[in-house]
Amino acid sequence: MEEKNQLLAEAARLRTEIRHHEYLYYVLDAPEITDAEYDRLMVRLREIESQWPEEVPEDSPTRRVGGKVSPEFTEVRHLTPLLSLSNAFSEAELRAFDERVHNGLPAGSKVEYVMEPKIDGLACSLIYENGRLVRAATRGDGVVGENVTANVRTIRSIPLILKAPAGQELPELFDVRGEVYMPRHEFMRLNEERAEAGESEFANPRNAAAGSLRQLDPQVTAKRSLSFFAYYVGDGAKERHSDSLAMLTGYGFKVSENYRLVSSIDEALEYISEFNEKRAGLSYDTDGAVIKVNDVYQQRILGATGKDPRWAIAFKYPPEQAETTMEDIVWRVGRTGVLTPTAVLTPVKLSGSTVSRATLHNVDFIKEKDIRIGDRVIINKAGEIIPEVLRVVAEKRSGEETPVEIPAVCPECGWQVERPENEAAIRCTNPHCPALGREGLIHFVSRDAMNIEGCGPSVINQLMDTGLVKDAADLYNLTRDDLVQLERMGEKSADNLLQALEASKENEMDRLLFALGIRHVGAKVARLLATEFGSMEKLLTAEPEQLAAIRDIGSKIAESVVTWLSVPANRDLLERLAAAGLKMDFTAQAADTANPLYGKTLVFTGTLPTLGRAEAKTMAQDAGAKVSGSVSKKTDYVVAGAEAGSKLEKAQQLGVTVIDEAEFLQMLHGASKEAE
Ligand code: IVH
Repeated sequence: MEEKNQLLAEAARLRTEIRHHEYLYYVLDAPEITDAEYDRLMVRLREIESQWPEEVPEDSPTRRVGGKVSPEFTEVRHLTPLLSLSNAFSEAELRAFDERVHNGLPAGSKVEYVMEPKIDGLACSLIYENGRLVRAATRGDGVVGENVTANVRTIRSIPLILKAPAGQELPELFDVRGEVYMPRHEFMRLNEERAEAGESEFANPRNAAAGSLRQLDPQVTAKRSLSFFAYYVGDGAKERHSDSLAMLTGYGFKVSENYRLVSSIDEALEYISEFNEKRAGLSYDTDGAVIKVNDVYQQRILGATGKDPRWAIAFKYPPEQAETTMEDIVWRVGRTGVLTPTAVLTPVKLSGSTVSRATLHNVDFIKEKDIRIGDRVIINKAGEIIPEVLRVVAEKRSGEETPVEIPAVCPECGWQVERPENEAAIRCTNPHCPALGREGLIHFVSRDAMNIEGCGPSVINQLMDTGLVKDAADLYNLTRDDLVQLERMGEKSADNLLQALEASKENEMDRLLFALGIRHVGAKVARLLATEFGSMEKLLTAEPEQLAAIRDIGSKIAESVVTWLSVPANRDLLERLAAAGLKMDFTAQAADTANPLYGKTLVFTGTLPTLGRAEAKTMAQDAGAKVSGSVSKKTDYVVAGAEAGSKLEKAQQLGVTVIDEAEFLQMLHGASKEAE
């Protein structure tokens, strides 16, 4: 009993500590410990919690992901309507707003405004009862929204439990509103991943955020790295909005660091032009600035018209566009051989930078917009990131413009290109295309692949230009003398690079598989293949059907892998990599063959008290277990959680051992079931 109390007390301490580190990382963006240290705290907490699942509080950091997949979102009525904002597009409209505000208040009233960035995401209301997050809802029509609590809980910058400022009670009811958004780098990462998987890309971070929040499976939302800025308090507000913002910061919310208190419309206009300079450099998209009357008493007097408050308005920056001439078109060949068209433009200023290139996406895009060389074109910043050709100014055509020629051969190597059916992309068919080589090498050494530090794109370019390296295997033959002759490569960097190359030889086979840049083989698929086959040798002799039989691997992936492996030059590359001493098998699991889960087949069913399904699966796989989706006589253990259904029944029928999460975790950490 005493031990239990001690462990529960330790768990409580761990929760406080973990919350603190999540706050430092996700809200302040200033972590004090490494990811590995953070993981260790989480593992320890889970270990304790798994022993007494009934003692795990709802707001434990282990419980962010765990909600069940729901068939649909239920509707919820907001405590008070979620208002929208009317828009102003000019200085005159803002001055008119200021006049309306003054006219609506007793004569001589002094008005302060709070200026804030207008975050481009989607509005969300969060309800806290006695400091605990109990409900999250989308705006919907302002009166009724959708209940997205399970998804919102996965957003780490949203506290599940409010931080109580020293000596203060937490409010019984607290209604926070703010914007769920997707940071730009996350948006780009997600789109890259989707393009690689042949899925459609999101048009901008806002759509990506909306699509991610409105996922029926919270596990999917959890992977999307959404974030949240708080910008309004309903129930529980202070008398001044600026004080509410300070209170939000105190409770542990992320509040934009770019807000400012001003005391006149002139100062407000100043903010608007100053903030416009800053916007491009932020890690998130903004489409304007919001001006709000600071005094809540004044806000009440002013009231609202329909859905818009009379005390606030959004200033929308004009979409950043510019007109210029499209002088030429160049086709760049990417790592997977896809040719992407880029417009070469007469340089023009656009949101603070000079633009001379713009993306044209693909052949269909050029056809749809009927873009010709010599055309005057309007460009803008798509999602505020990459300039894009928006449209042609057709009325300015002289008749001299020439239609874009779709290349029949690869601009890099002259091989024929192909256009697979149902795809907008055209690809180079040469497996040895030099462009492929360069992009492929940049991918090969990248962090998620072989993780060779000190080998960025400029080093790769130099290595290829000097002829020192033609493919990945050549990297491993580099000598110190080779390296020090490169530009900007000192002796120290050369040594570091050699060391990084040496260390990369020990990488598990899944990294290597991913690094090879086989189409449709992302990190996850590489991992599946590596665990399933265990060695490159076995994979080399696999039949497509064998591959396609693996869960989560479809015929498209299977075919792509088999085709790649059947190309003699690729086999040759693998041989040379092996000769260089690279690890050609997957032993992450075999590291501990003594683990009681090693080599066992597990089936998970029901909701586990602390672990998410995907997480539990990876943990089991890391210990060398196979995870299957259905129970058979070959199943060694069924790990059952709450509301386990037919799989549990089947296990009982077949006499398969059923364990709970606590037992699973104990085995994972070495305790043998048989030994008990
Ligand atoms: S205040 C009464 N502040 O813009 C309060 N909204 O176009 C109404 N938005 O629905 C909202 N940043 O989704 C407010 N700093 C900010 C905002 C903001 C973005 C969004 C919000 C709102 C929409 C109105």
